[in-house]
Amino acid sequence: MQKNKTWYITTPIYYPSANLHIGHAYTTIAADAMARFHRLCGDDVLFVTGSDEHGQKIAQKAAEALRTPKDFVDEIVGFIQDPLWKTLGISYDRFIRTTDADHIEVVQRVFKQLMDQGDIYKGTYEGWYCLPDESFWTESKLVDGKCPDCGRPVERVRQESYFFAMGRYQQRMKEYILAHPDFIQPPSRRNEMLSFLDSGLEDLSISRSSLSWGIRVPGDPQHVIYVWFDALLNYLTAAGYSSPNGQFERIWPPDVQLVGKEIVRFHTIIWPIILMALNLELPERVFGHGWLLIGETKMSKSLGNAVDPLELVEKYGVDAIRYYLLREVPFGSDGNYTEESLRLRINVDLANDLGNLLSRTTAMINRFADGQVPFLSAPCRDIDCVLPNLAAQVYDDVKNAMHRLLISDAITQIYRLIRAANKYIEDRSPWKLAKDPKSRPELNTVLYNLAETLRVVSVLLSPFLITTPEKIRNQLGITEPVRSYREALFGQLRGGEKIERGEPLFPRIEESSTPDNENSRDRNTLGRNPRETMGPMTSSSDPKEERPIGEIGIEDFQKIDLRVGTIREAEIIASADRLLKLTVFDGERERIIVSGIRAHYEPQELVGHQVVLVANLKPVKLRGIMSEGMLLAGSAGDILSLIAPARTLAEGARVK
Ligand code: MSP
Repeated sequence: MQKNKTWYITTPIYYPSANLHIGHAYTTIAADAMARFHRLCGDDVLFVTGSDEHGQKIAQKAAEALRTPKDFVDEIVGFIQDPLWKTLGISYDRFIRTTDADHIEVVQRVFKQLMDQGDIYKGTYEGWYCLPDESFWTESKLVDGKCPDCGRPVERVRQESYFFAMGRYQQRMKEYILAHPDFIQPPSRRNEMLSFLDSGLEDLSISRSSLSWGIRVPGDPQHVIYVWFDALLNYLTAAGYSSPNGQFERIWPPDVQLVGKEIVRFHTIIWPIILMALNLELPERVFGHGWLLIGETKMSKSLGNAVDPLELVEKYGVDAIRYYLLREVPFGSDGNYTEESLRLRINVDLANDLGNLLSRTTAMINRFADGQVPFLSAPCRDIDCVLPNLAAQVYDDVKNAMHRLLISDAITQIYRLIRAANKYIEDRSPWKLAKDPKSRPELNTVLYNLAETLRVVSVLLSPFLITTPEKIRNQLGITEPVRSYREALFGQLRGGEKIERGEPLFPRIEESSTPDNENSRDRNTLGRNPRETMGPMTSSSDPKEERPIGEIGIEDFQKIDLRVGTIREAEIIASADRLLKLTVFDGERERIIVSGIRAHYEPQELVGHQVVLVANLKPVKLRGIMSEGMLLAGSAGDILSLIAPARTLAEGARVK
């Protein structure tokens, strides 16, 4: 029987010029989550990552370290595989190195074929070279005399070179992009590439004679093949292009290629044109994700602001880091990394929302049901259908989000279910039901629903978190690992499972438990506008923040115009990780309020909610947006809650 097409996903292959940082981990963890998701859905997955080992930059680094290039990369690549990717749970199927024998064979074969068919010719290259990006530029493409991709200085190069005749494919490439709206994602990157094509496509220099660390040009050993031409072909090698045994046909083309936004051009213009020249199908989707920033700046090895993923794992655990990276930044946008926002995610989402749900549920089953999950029975009231119904919706929503590569949206959906389960505990108050023996069936239903929701959550979370799902299941007395996404359908817990209470899933991070906290905070919040650390108007329970407030007269209080409003829209501000831009209707008009509640609320959960706003606060500009007011919120520890009227009131109602 013919096997289905392999679901093939790739990450860029990383330069082993220094140890990798959480920016690289971000791409790789995202690809890993997608690979794990597709495996759960029953796809035959090929997930490839690797290392891009040739080129001038590596040769220079090796020379500085007084090592041969191969020795130099061997050590770093070894470290990337283990402990880095191993610790982060990267479940790749192949780690490809551009020094692997099958890759060298593929690169030379492709070069020769393109040469034979006239797509590669010899000439002289004169132009500019960006060493950190290993990219060639003509004078007209430079921006202020610097590399248009990364803004760093470029060097003048003049040498005999082989050229790839890309120019002749310009029109075909443009037509392809126009005819395949999903090929380049997100759409903003697609538009950038279309205008790049319109500005003209020059033939690409694809060999260097001034360098020996690379793959030799077949028949002309004075030249080595340009590192990007070599690197892009890794995706063919890893799919088995060198061994024609039918495997390649089943794998090709890639379903998803994840790349950072600065290398989208290589992957959506140069790479597909090579494939067109080889008469091969183009990838289904190339997704250009954003960068992790420190303040306003891209995190990068060369800028010296890199954060080491292993240090973070040591401090907070692997699942906390995976969760933070996948959840915090909407996939496709840039996002600020701060250790403070990481700790907030751990305390609020993981320790509080998820961890407490598990410990409350298991404690109640122990107390009220002799430590065994009750058997499923008919729902007692409408409210008992809330979790099963929501679980069915979330099952579809997570799947849809993952098919659209929207990882952080997928996790947000799972959290709808987790938060609804916490609310269900409050609404159904099992401790009250337990007081009346007649309420036994109701109590059993409630406890079953909670345990089953947690089981469903363990399945839904398993592409993203690698140790937590099993811990949840162990505590619920489930011994089998998660095998299929269909297990996330509600109602499969049999009942009778014996609860095994364990350690809290995520211990809360207390300020005092992170002694180097102040330093790391300084290091990781560089360049932030101090106004942006301002939250909404809060009453803080942190004694450090409490200021003594003297008595005020009623006339002072009356100076504050407090009104009820409704949030109509809520958006993330790409450049500010703590802020949300809210459109609030105050009874008369819509006003924009920029509020520091991003770490506590997802934008979509706010829409439609009533709030109390300070209507006569002098407007202030935050991140370029004029903010006209402030919302009232209260906080205790890490929990922050917006203050809302206990009954719905007409917008504009005065609060006094
Ligand atoms: N070797 C090339 C890729 C060749 S693929 C055929 C390369 N390597 S890299 O090591 O410089 O970068 C690899 C990937 O890491 C890129 O997609 C890049 O965007 C990503 N990141 C590097 N720094 C990053 C952040 N600060 N944030 C998010 N991704 C980051 O380019």
